Amino acid sequence: MAWRVLTYVVLVIAVAVGLLVTGVPTQLGFWRWLVNCTGHPFLVGFAPGFMRPGDNQYSYEELGKLDLSGQSAIVTGANIGLGYETALHLTRQGAHVILACRNAGKCADAAARIAANTTRGSVEAATLDTSSLQSVRSFAEGMLARQSTLDMLVLNAGIGFQQQKELSADGIDMTFATNHLGHFHLFQLLLPLLESGGKTGAARVVLVSSAAHFDSFDYGVATSVEQLTAIAPGQQMHYGMSKLAQVLFAQEATSRLPADSKVFINACHPGAVDTNLWERVLDQFGREKLLVRIFALIVDRMRKDFIWRTEDGALTQLFLAADSAAISTRNLRGRYFHPQALEVAPCKKHATNLTLQRELWAFSERLVADALAK
Ligand SMILES: NC(=O)c1ccc[n+]([C@@H]2O[C@H](COP(=O)([O-])OP(=O)(O)OC[C@H]3O[C@@H](n4cnc5c(N)ncnc54)[C@H](OP(=O)(O)O)[C@@H]3O)[C@@H](O)[C@H]2O)c1
Ligand SMILES: *[C@@H]1O[C@H](CO)[C@@H](O)[C@H](O)[C@H]1NC(C)=O
Ligand SMILES: *[C@@H]1O[C@H](CO)[C@@H](O)[C@H](O)[C@H]1NC(C)=O
Ligand SMILES: *[C@@H]1O[C@H](CO)[C@@H](O)[C@H](O)[C@H]1NC(C)=O
Repeated sequence: MAWRVLTYVVLVIAVAVGLLVTGVPTQLGFWRWLVNCTGHPFLVGFAPGFMRPGDNQYSYEELGKLDLSGQSAIVTGANIGLGYETALHLTRQGAHVILACRNAGKCADAAARIAANTTRGSVEAATLDTSSLQSVRSFAEGMLARQSTLDMLVLNAGIGFQQQKELSADGIDMTFATNHLGHFHLFQLLLPLLESGGKTGAARVVLVSSAAHFDSFDYGVATSVEQLTAIAPGQQMHYGMSKLAQVLFAQEATSRLPADSKVFINACHPGAVDTNLWERVLDQFGREKLLVRIFALIVDRMRKDFIWRTEDGALTQLFLAADSAAISTRNLRGRYFHPQALEVAPCKKHATNLTLQRELWAFSERLVADALAK
């Protein structure tokens, strides 16, 4: 509790100071000092100014050395933002990348832009709405019918803070369905393609979670329909919960596989990144409100000068998806990473709770079975 309050205070001060004297706290090393001084993993890699000497472990130079030809990848939510950058750079390293997006037009457009940007690799567009289990199922059936293996599965699609409570086509909480459950089912269905380990003998699954997972409800994650339904609208912890579910998912999925499995599943936080997610959050708050307009100015300033550029924000998930040699050598399984490719300890209170981990898995299986029985 004390940490949560402190984290908020720190963030508010960071934003306010960042707005007034952008660049100065960074130059003075204030953010770096703050990471050390609070010791809270939430702040590790939050924005470029938070990186400490020696922290910067991954780069486009490193990625550029990899040859991904002959490997295939699926990236969800790949039409824009972090998903787009991930798909672009996997393609540039020679992979065949399948963009899985909910809007076919935007997806085809993104595929065309990627194809125009590189002479290596190849790219194609496919339709997937992660909030709908039926859509997940038909997408997966399509993949199972034509692919015999899969090297990379990047579970990136996500929605942020929601002001209103909304239900998915299956009658499940929209945030939970989009960010967690659809990906859970997709992973279940595609696991047979991953199990051979693909071309390198080490297939990689990445859950694009968030440091927001540190900020969930007291019980961590809902493990019953009653609990999920009882969540009041407009709570930011709702997003944190869906992101905690992804961290727990990475761990439980790992522990359900043999210890020497050829599938390596990890979760990450991209950092605070300049993407459309911020616009979508502002829309949710209601842009006509004065406070939101002030907040929008701060966000604008932060996006320009303070937080990660989209391309750099994608590096952690790119590392976990692309660098099979590092991942298998270091035997990275069920772990949690911050920018850029730094391993940190996830939320101690919930992410290491094995009971919660198992209950979430059982609950997710039940939700999927119930929805598909309807
Ligand atoms: N940006 C940050 O600061 C930040 C921080 C921590 C974690 N993250 C995580 O990073 C991931 C990517 O977010 P982003 O920042 O790149 O945001 P973004 O620019 O808003 O992109 C989100 C992507 O997810 C897609 N998507 C949303 N709902 C979907 C659904 N039901 N089915 C399929 N695709 C869906 C969006 O498609 P449409 O374009 O059609 O809506 C879009 O392609 C998210 O999981 C987010 O939680 C971001
Ligand atoms: C943070 O701590 C590390 C070691 O714990 C130290 O090497 C580094 O100098 C510290 N950085 C700052 C800015 O205090
Ligand atoms: C190709 O992608 C890179 C990386 O995102 C970007 O910097 C560059 O402007 C793009 N080039 C073209 C021609 O689209
Ligand atoms: C772990 O999770 C279970 C199931 O939600 C809960 O009953 C238990 O209290 C949790 N343990 C801790 C130490 O938080």
